[in-house]
Amino acid sequence: MSDTGNDGIFDIDTLKDIGPATKTCLREAGFRSIKDLVIRGPTDIAEATGITIEKCTLLCNRAREILEDKGVFDKPFITANQIYEKRKSEYRIATGSKNLDELLGGGIETRAITELYGEYGTGKTQICHTLCVTVQQNESEDNLSRALYVDTENTFRPERIASIASARKFDPNRALENIIVAKAYNSAHQEVIIQESPNIISLHNIKIMIVDSIVSHYRAEFLGRSFLSERQQRINRLLHILLRIGETCKIAVVITNQIQSSPDAIFGDPHIATGGNVMAHTSTYRLYLKKAGKNRIARMVDSPYHSEREILFTLNEQGIGDPQK
Ligand SMILES: Nc1ncnc2c1ncn2[C@@H]1O[C@H](COP(=O)(O)OP(=O)(O)OP(=O)(O)O)[C@@H](O)[C@H]1O
Ligand SMILES: [Mg+2]
Repeated sequence: MSDTGNDGIFDIDTLKDIGPATKTCLREAGFRSIKDLVIRGPTDIAEATGITIEKCTLLCNRAREILEDKGVFDKPFITANQIYEKRKSEYRIATGSKNLDELLGGGIETRAITELYGEYGTGKTQICHTLCVTVQQNESEDNLSRALYVDTENTFRPERIASIASARKFDPNRALENIIVAKAYNSAHQEVIIQESPNIISLHNIKIMIVDSIVSHYRAEFLGRSFLSERQQRINRLLHILLRIGETCKIAVVITNQIQSSPDAIFGDPHIATGGNVMAHTSTYRLYLKKAGKNRIARMVDSPYHSEREILFTLNEQGIGDPQK
């Protein structure tokens, strides 16, 4: 079997437009599949191969055409109705809380980035752990639904997964088997993990990719104003790679984000999400989590089609759930 798993038909070797030396350069830089060319884009291809950016743009377009022909991407210029019909049949992942599912329009959407941000202890990591289990509800013998968890804060706990799985009547060992964990030690390592994840996603039938959290290494490593621009550029690049992974691999992408105090907030909530405009513009859905006594509030603060609204959920032995009436 090819190391691109059930994605063998998209293996870089099947490309006729480039020679063996270029293919070797691409492989060395972690490109495995034609999908990777589209996901990482012309600048990364140019860096890996030394080919001019114009040629890399052509190569990228060629890769996209192949993916269109194979039905991975829609052809350009289709009717809104076709998109509407397709979206209705698209797969959503239950969060474990009916209120939260309803706020999201039926669960976490595939082919999109859902960002969770909020103060410490508001339940970001708890939601991520719960999603690792609830994604497996759609599992059947030939249709495994697994989770990929990129842990940057060292807060992934298999014990918590096992207890959520037991409370939800799943076999805990099987639930743990279906979660692939990648621990990122610094921002450079996090970038390599995310770049190389499309291969893992197709090999293991991943349906949700979680990055908890997206910013912590960048916040710790790029200190001060002089590094701000580089930090933002790297976060921007990473988010766009994640967006294209979601689109190309047809999976849900969930990222968590931290908050910072807004210096100019005199009235109202002084907390804003970190990552600035780069983060705000790239996430498809943004949920702001707040504490409300024993419960938690989730507020939809940015969505292409939901109004700004909030709901209550709770943290419990099932991971997350709905407060008792
Ligand atoms: N088994 C459990 N049952 C109920 N609540 C739990 C359980 N385990 C953890 N919690 C609660 O979850 C909260 C921590 O949530 P979580 O780890 O998701 O925070 P976070 O938003 O990820 O914070 P940070 O920004 O520090 O990463 C704590 O209030 C803790 O009491
Ligand atoms: Mg956390």
